[in-house]
Amino acid sequence: MNAIVDAPRLQRELDTLATFSEHPPPAVTRVVFGEMDLRARAYLKTLFVDASLVVHEDPVGNTFARWSGSNPSRAPVATGSHCDAIPNAGRFDGTVGVLGGLEAIRALQRAGFTPERSIDLIVFTSEEPTRFGIGCLGSRLLASALDPSAGEVLTSEGQSLNQIRSSAGFSGPLADVPLPGGTYAAFVELHIEQGPILDRDRIDVGVVTAIAAPASFRIFVEGEGGHAGAVLMPDRHDAFLAAAEIALSIERIARSSGSIDTVATTGVCELFPAAINSVPSRTRLDVDVRDIDQARRDAVLREIERACDTIAVHRGVTVRTEPINADPPAHCAPAIVDAIERACDARGFQHRRMISRAYHDSLFMSRIAPTGMIFIPCRDGTSHRPEEYAAPEAIARGVAVLADALAVLAG
Ligand code: GLV
Ligand code: MN
Ligand code: MN
Repeated sequence: MNAIVDAPRLQRELDTLATFSEHPPPAVTRVVFGEMDLRARAYLKTLFVDASLVVHEDPVGNTFARWSGSNPSRAPVATGSHCDAIPNAGRFDGTVGVLGGLEAIRALQRAGFTPERSIDLIVFTSEEPTRFGIGCLGSRLLASALDPSAGEVLTSEGQSLNQIRSSAGFSGPLADVPLPGGTYAAFVELHIEQGPILDRDRIDVGVVTAIAAPASFRIFVEGEGGHAGAVLMPDRHDAFLAAAEIALSIERIARSSGSIDTVATTGVCELFPAAINSVPSRTRLDVDVRDIDQARRDAVLREIERACDTIAVHRGVTVRTEPINADPPAHCAPAIVDAIERACDARGFQHRRMISRAYHDSLFMSRIAPTGMIFIPCRDGTSHRPEEYAAPEAIARGVAVLADALAVLAG
């Protein structure tokens, strides 16, 4: 069996997918259930059907495209990733795992391979937290890591997830989304590294052994508003300045955790009333904290809470924090790590074991299936920016390894 990747075709498909964007190129913005997301999904489904895959969608819009195996009594294997993109992102994050997964299946089909187990290509809904504030929405629900009441609790611009998904054409109870453990015999996700190691060290493939533990939370600061000209400086309780002090404390706490593996980002800051001549009375910060060590991450979260309390007293404001998620790290299955490494060796590709600092749908798939990830280099490690770039040859190598690993795992 010799799976040959059609790299030019895959590039054309990546180019086309990148055109479904809310911002002009090179930026890609594709917010879940927005018009561009729905058009991208429709385009992907035509490609899946062209490859003779049988498509079904679950109530949250996770899309499953199946290549049926010869032995339906054996649990299928799966691959896939996401096609939503954060505001002002690049074109390879997630999409390489979706279209690369499709090309891996087509390469196996062209090679005359018949899988014993079915192979599912999954497009997960909303890996990015852009719209509903929480990442990996689809895979979280699949793995029973999010209660179906999220359908009413999660909102975007005043509408619930249930209202929004139903306007996008996805109905049925969210309680029908979870998959029991054992549904899949294996899950393998292909993704760009989103870090500098493979590019810098000229390594073809990263073989992921673990995924860092992500956490996120919101901070609400309530101070006192007033006229920008009339309220004298000593009398102010400026909610934004308290929030700014909190954001700087978060940076200091992450930097002094004792490990370079602790990272913290204040990525959202919303002011009220957001008028140039008005002292901000309310401010909201959204904060992301990660570490490969869960205990150290949790210690950082506690220290941030303490800093919030101190700053609240000192600035005469109230500060409330609201957790969004605090997930444990994931560990990849040794058998899948092995299968990926053997596939690299057989193709003569340089490979290195590594930890994923970004999260992925694999973080949750690993709870219900033995999971592994294949990383490919991206230029300078740049990601979540329009400059994100992965070379066609690098993508083709990742797809070849994915095809070979799927062939072994699907038997
Ligand atoms: C995924 O996009 C992440 O933020 O790690
Ligand atoms: Mn991303
Ligand atoms: Mn991604």
